[in-house]
Order: sequence, then C-alpha cells, then structure tokens
Amino acid sequence: MLPVKKIKALLKRLRVFFLLTCRYRFRAVGKDVYFGKRLYVKAGSVVLGDKVFIGNYCHLSVSDLTIGSYTMLASFVAVVGGDHYFLKIGTPIIDAGHAPLRKGVKIERDCWIGHGAIILDGVSIGEGSVIGAGALVTRSVPPYEVHVGVPARKVKDRFDRLEDRLQHSRQINGDYYKSFMANPIA
Ligand SMILES: CC(C)(COP(=O)(O)OP(=O)(O)OC[C@H]1O[C@@H](n2cnc3c(N)ncnc32)[C@H](O)[C@@H]1OP(=O)(O)O)[C@@H](O)C(=O)NCCC(=O)NCCS
Repeated sequence: MLPVKKIKALLKRLRVFFLLTCRYRFRAVGKDVYFGKRLYVKAGSVVLGDKVFIGNYCHLSVSDLTIGSYTMLASFVAVVGGDHYFLKIGTPIIDAGHAPLRKGVKIERDCWIGHGAIILDGVSIGEGSVIGAGALVTRSVPPYEVHVGVPARKVKDRFDRLEDRLQHSRQINGDYYKSFMANPIA
C-alpha cells in the first residue's frame, strides 16, 4: 500500500494538473508555481513565470496578464480588466459593451503584491517592486519602488543604493540590470 505522504503528494499534483489544464488554462506556466484556493482566473489570459506564488481568493480577470518569475501575490489581490464603455448617450452601461482598448497588465519578476491590493488594466509593475496591502494601483510603478495607498503612491525605494538594485537585478537575471548595462546613463 502507498504511504499517506505519497498519496497526498499525488493528489496535490493531480489538483495542479486539473486546475492548469481544465480550469485556469494559463497561456504559459513556469516551474514551481503555487496557487491558493478559490482563485478566479480568466481562462486563456495569464502567463506565469517560474516560482510564482498566488495566494487564496485572488481575482485575475484582466484579458492579458503576465506575472514574472519569483513574484508573489498575497491573498485577495485583484487584477481587474473588462472596463465597460460608459459614454454612449441613451444606452445604459450594461448594454453599451466594453471599452474598445484592452491594455493588459504586466507584473515583472520579483515583485510582492500585498494583501487585498487592486491593480487596474493598463498598469505595469516594474521588476522588484512592492505594493502595500490594500493599495489601488492606477498608474505604472517603476522598478524597485514601494508603493502604498489609494491611489497608490511611492513611499520609498526598495533598495536605497543604485549599486544594490543593480546587483540584485543581475543576480536574479533581471531586465533592470540588462537595460541599465545597455544604456548606463538612463
Ligand atoms: C508596503 C509594506 C511592505 C511596507 O513595509 P515597510 O517597509 O516596513 O514600510 P514602513 O512601515 O516603513 O512604511 C512607510 C510608510 O508607508 C505607510 N504604509 C506602509 N504600508 C502601507 C499600506 N499598506 N497602506 C498605506 N500606507 C502604508 C506607513 O504608514 C509609512 O508612512 P509614514 O512614512 O507617513 O509613516 C507593508 O507596509 C505592507 O503593506 N505589507 C504587506 C503585508 C501583506 O500583505 N502581507 C500578506 C502576506 S504575503
């Protein structure tokens, strides 16, 4: 007979396989990805890098979402799209369809999105950035910054020194380091 541990591991793998192939239908998934309970994922819209962590009750409803490697979403994070068109005179919003332009959201590698944060369509979150619990992210966030509040605003840099940001980025094979090396003055 199989030991309990082995059965549990097998069930876990079956759950992940079922969720990936039948329910969430991610466009691409890296290695060692974790996702919690009761997620809503818009099927066919999401790309996940390696070692991405998605907490319980997250809601990923934007039509094009990329989450880079090592990024963590705490519980109750929402990345929302599907904006309704509300400028048709004489037509209730419910009948007016969706806004024509779907922009998509990109969260780069090694970000941490705090509990209950809401990220709106069209936003990019730069490599290594941190979003505080409860933040409402309406504008793009540059790399290695900490943003909090409603609407989210920068409160500090994650690493004060440029050398530390570059060293960290290089060690995680990040684009921040690569783009700096390609154009060191920027
Ligand atoms: C964003 C965060 C990481 C910053 O932590 P920190 O570096 O210790 O930040 P500080 O305590 O130095 O705060 C800096 C300022 O931002 C404010 N602040 C921090 N987090 C905030 C938040 N979530 N919302 C609003 N303001 C916040 C602080 O009040 C402080 O303001 P002040 O300078 O006017 O006093 C942390 O506050 C946070 O929100 N963590 C998320 C926790 C979480 O979701 N855990 C789930 C488990 S994965």
